[in-house]
Amino acid sequence: MKVDLYERVWMWSVAVMLALFFGSTAAAAFGRRIHPPSHIETIDPKTALTDPRFKPPGVSVDPQGRVHVRVIGLMFAWLPAELTVPAGTPITFHVTSTDVTHGFEIVRTNGQAMAIPGYISQFTTQFTRPGEYLIACNEYCGVGHHAMAARLHVVPKDQWQGGRP
Ligand code: CUA
Repeated sequence: MKVDLYERVWMWSVAVMLALFFGSTAAAAFGRRIHPPSHIETIDPKTALTDPRFKPPGVSVDPQGRVHVRVIGLMFAWLPAELTVPAGTPITFHVTSTDVTHGFEIVRTNGQAMAIPGYISQFTTQFTRPGEYLIACNEYCGVGHHAMAARLHVVPKDQWQGGRP
């Protein structure tokens, strides 16, 4: 079969591009163990506010010394609205919603997850620079969507008081 030169060039370019895309995805997933920031943990949205997994809400330290942040999204607030975490420390966020889907976004960081009623989204990140970060809602959730915000204070590790503001 005669295939035109240009046709052949494009076919091979596409083949190489696909190999690169699949290869880099496979390298990230299996080689570097990078996975989507989520896991399947369910929760009853009606009782999320009193669920023991969100008690106490906000920042806490587990017996192994790891820092956790538990946040509940509801129309139109993040609970709690103020969080203080140490810089340069891995922090695991647990986020859920009691009503509709919200978008938990720590602006200008890679901390981001959907707050989906019925599920607990989880991701771990750390903040290298101390400062004040805005937590916004990036999923349109109703008339008060634009007002749905919270504040994250990142303080130097030696000034951090175990989650108390
Ligand atoms: Cu919550 Cu937009």
